[in-house]
Amino acid sequence: MNKQDIMVALMNVEEFPTLPQVVTRIIELCEDEEVHVDDLAKVILQDQSIAARILKLANSAYYGYLRKVNTISKAITILGFDSIRSLSISASVFDTFKKIKSNYNFNRCQFWLHSIGVANISKMICIYINNRKDKEAVFLGGLLHDIGKLFFESYYNVQYEDVVREVTVERCSIRDAEQKIFNVTHDEVGGWLTDRWKFPDDLIHAIQFHHNLDMCPEEDILITSIVHIADHICRIHNIGSGGDILIPQINPIAFSAANLTEEDIQKISDKVPEEKENIFTFMAIMD
Ligand SMILES: [Fe+2]
Ligand SMILES: [Fe+2]
Repeated sequence: MNKQDIMVALMNVEEFPTLPQVVTRIIELCEDEEVHVDDLAKVILQDQSIAARILKLANSAYYGYLRKVNTISKAITILGFDSIRSLSISASVFDTFKKIKSNYNFNRCQFWLHSIGVANISKMICIYINNRKDKEAVFLGGLLHDIGKLFFESYYNVQYEDVVREVTVERCSIRDAEQKIFNVTHDEVGGWLTDRWKFPDDLIHAIQFHHNLDMCPEEDILITSIVHIADHICRIHNIGSGGDILIPQINPIAFSAANLTEEDIQKISDKVPEEKENIFTFMAIMD
């Protein structure tokens, strides 16, 4: 079977994970600069689980606002459309996979901690290079970069146990083990999945190419590189688990795309311990 056929077979699982329509609507509205805050709030309130998480986060140490944020409209005004979009997507992806039984050999808590770690470190990199406009895009890219692993684990858990075993026995990377067992890897699966969810192209590319920067379209190389670097830094700090104990090297493409040196990476990395509380707060509210 070629890759295409394997992917089609993988994606034809029964009860394919779908995101609630509300989320698609929220994504659309957040892209419309003319939209009124109250109209967006009305849509968010149709999904109580998303609305509750937004309010909890807005009132948590994660954002550190002193005044109480007690309505969704207020949360939108304070956090902005980009943050609301990424929080809504985050909450619904957590909910979608929560409904599916977990494989006992795969630690979802560690998986999400790694993902949230990469999301927050991606944001730190964006701030470091003074790029405020892509902050939320890289956050989401980081949060969902390894979502293909969760898809494998949720729908092919017997085979994914073989992947986990292979990593332990052969001490190889989880990506090499996936290639051996499935003939496709989590980055490819993640790209397909988020394409089916009709996510924006930059986000799909950050997920699809985070291990394969050479293939990434030029226009999305910056955000993909940021996620790639954040994955490396997160593994150094052992936040959650990336599925194996190997630390992938940073691709030289990422250094030049983000205009960063080894010294810059070290400076960002040194600040990660201060970010840990935020990572755990986000995890506690989402999970
Ligand atoms: Fe990955
Ligand atoms: Fe990762």
